[in-house]
Amino acid sequence: MPIFAAPELYMKNYKRHTITAALPYANGPVHIGHLAGCYLPADIYARYMRSIGEDVVYVCGSDENGVAITLKAMQEGLTPQELVDKYHGMIKKAFEDFGISFDIYSRTSSPEHHQTASDFFKVLYDKGVFTKKVSKQYYDVKFKQFLADRYIFGECPNCHYPNAYGDQCENCGTSLDPTDLINPKSRLSGEQPEIRETEHWYLPLQKYEEWLKGWILDGHSEWKANVLGQCRSWLMQGLHERSITRDMNWGVPVPLPGAEGKVLYVWLDAPIGYITATKQWAAAQNKDWKLYWQDEDTRLIHFIGKDNIVFHCIIFPVMLKAHGEFILPDNVPANEFLNIEGEKVSTSRNWAVWLHEYLVDFPGKQDVLRYVLCSNAPETKDNDFLWKDFQAKNNNELAAIVGNLVNRVLVLTHNYYQGHTPPRGETGDAERFLTDEIEDYPSRIGTLAQEFKFREALTELMNLARLGNKYLTDGEPWKTIKTHPEYAGTVLNYSLQLLANFAILSEPFLPGTSAKLKHILKMGVTGWNDAGNMDMIAEGTLIGEPVILFEKIDDETIEKQVLKLQNSKKQLQTVLETDKEAEKTDFIPFKDNITFDDFSKLDLRIGTIEAAEKVKDADKLLKLLVDLGSEKRTVVSGIALSFSAEEVVGKQVCLVANLEPRKIKGILSQGMILMTEDENKKLVFVNPDGIVPAGQGVS
Ligand code: MF3
Ligand code: ZN
Repeated sequence: MPIFAAPELYMKNYKRHTITAALPYANGPVHIGHLAGCYLPADIYARYMRSIGEDVVYVCGSDENGVAITLKAMQEGLTPQELVDKYHGMIKKAFEDFGISFDIYSRTSSPEHHQTASDFFKVLYDKGVFTKKVSKQYYDVKFKQFLADRYIFGECPNCHYPNAYGDQCENCGTSLDPTDLINPKSRLSGEQPEIRETEHWYLPLQKYEEWLKGWILDGHSEWKANVLGQCRSWLMQGLHERSITRDMNWGVPVPLPGAEGKVLYVWLDAPIGYITATKQWAAAQNKDWKLYWQDEDTRLIHFIGKDNIVFHCIIFPVMLKAHGEFILPDNVPANEFLNIEGEKVSTSRNWAVWLHEYLVDFPGKQDVLRYVLCSNAPETKDNDFLWKDFQAKNNNELAAIVGNLVNRVLVLTHNYYQGHTPPRGETGDAERFLTDEIEDYPSRIGTLAQEFKFREALTELMNLARLGNKYLTDGEPWKTIKTHPEYAGTVLNYSLQLLANFAILSEPFLPGTSAKLKHILKMGVTGWNDAGNMDMIAEGTLIGEPVILFEKIDDETIEKQVLKLQNSKKQLQTVLETDKEAEKTDFIPFKDNITFDDFSKLDLRIGTIEAAEKVKDADKLLKLLVDLGSEKRTVVSGIALSFSAEEVVGKQVCLVANLEPRKIKGILSQGMILMTEDENKKLVFVNPDGIVPAGQGVS
């Protein structure tokens, strides 16, 4: 990572900044994982850039095309348009209420977007960028349509998991072609689809491979390690052509004769949505959109989550490059994922904290969530959101450090000086030290923000508040007001100046708090460059009344949230899988019939686990000793991620006793224990309803 002496140095080459945040699918509301991954860091960055006086446009909008939308519409019994209208409205409002400072929040079902995407496609088409191919694809005869990969499921040819998707087996991770599936079924009709020929256009990514290697690996070695890592792995595996059209009637129609019933692949049109949004914003502002997309002096930055890396680092840049008139992203600071209470977010299982619900449950506490999500942002690895941690960060950091400092300074100023900023008397080492530190803070925080290290930047901001607390505590104005009243005035004056600095430097991170402070301190309009000194509030200025900026959050409130999470998961209905974040579909097709004779070949026994230990070098395996009455069996079982050795001892289990013994990690396993999964995907033993003698048969 480059080290920048001062932020100005880094910015000097650019005249303006186009900042994009991934367009959320309008097939559901936004949750805090989305915020932490993309919208919040982008917002902090955009606010910071505006504060230092840069020319910024921060664009976003709803992603309203594609299979994710049509599947969800089918499930909710709505037309795709009705569905996206519903969720676009909801998402837009939640972002607004939360205070995300988009310059525009657009959408991709709009006529302007259809036009922009269509034009873009045409330019590439006319340049001969695409190839055209006939391919065989599954077709649902009953529903009269070709089936997208995710509309097909069947048995994995590799591991025989019965519920693999058309593009990937979620069980063994193998990437698949729908035609690889054994016994494929349509998710529309549940019936076996038919193979038919269809014609599509393809983007030959392999032709850009060398260029991409140079542009990314040589040209952008400063990108985040997680981003470069994914790019490198894509480039090393070798790129292939990707189809960029689909047989569907929802989306941007392919603007070519004879292409009826075909639309652009959603990942082709969605990033063009950034351009559409910028056009709409520019038109309303009387600006030239082209400056923000086609001028070399513009810095384009894409904020995304890690699942979008290939699209923003490889496919979209290839499109921009092939078009020829566009600039390329200068950075793509993708974040990893935020898990909730130790589990991966899953919208279909309702394991998420929804933004619109947070705003109702915690009115006026936008900054608390911003703080918690930023201080815990998954910048380099997946991280966890824990409600307990949310409470602790509010109570022990925001309230105890920031709120406490503000309150103390305001109360003392009102008690001793009727709210007027006191004059400064004598100063000493403490004041010199404070002044030096303050001078440094704007570039200290700013440099980190420019390097997309928002967590560290926030830590520095908190250090500023800590510095204020220490100065005030050491200065003891409540004592010196009697012994050296002039010095008490100095301490409160300096403390107020520090708060004014905090008000400016906190704006990107905690905009609500910043606005309140600026109002209290009568600061008027200020920017980043006004900070860094101890002369921000004139002597005599009447400041506002003391306030409580952050109320403590009690245990009950937190327990309610944890309960709410757990309950909403319980109410889960069996729904069709529409979300790429969820790992599995909710129904498994039944297997073919067997005869009673087939069944009676199974020797199923109830046994009691007598001893258990972890298998060395195997995270998932436990070695169990199972008592079957007449004999004891050693069984190696893949349950160690769900159970500790201690907790399984004494459990009754159902064992397939005549399964061919086999060696697992060098241990001979004599049988298999039957397990199932609960709704949280935690393994659960299949065992008798009451205690039965060890060795009892099951029939
Ligand atoms: N809707 C996509 C997702 O949620 C993101 C689209 S980003 C864009 O993963 F660039 F395509 F707009
Ligand atoms: Zn598999």
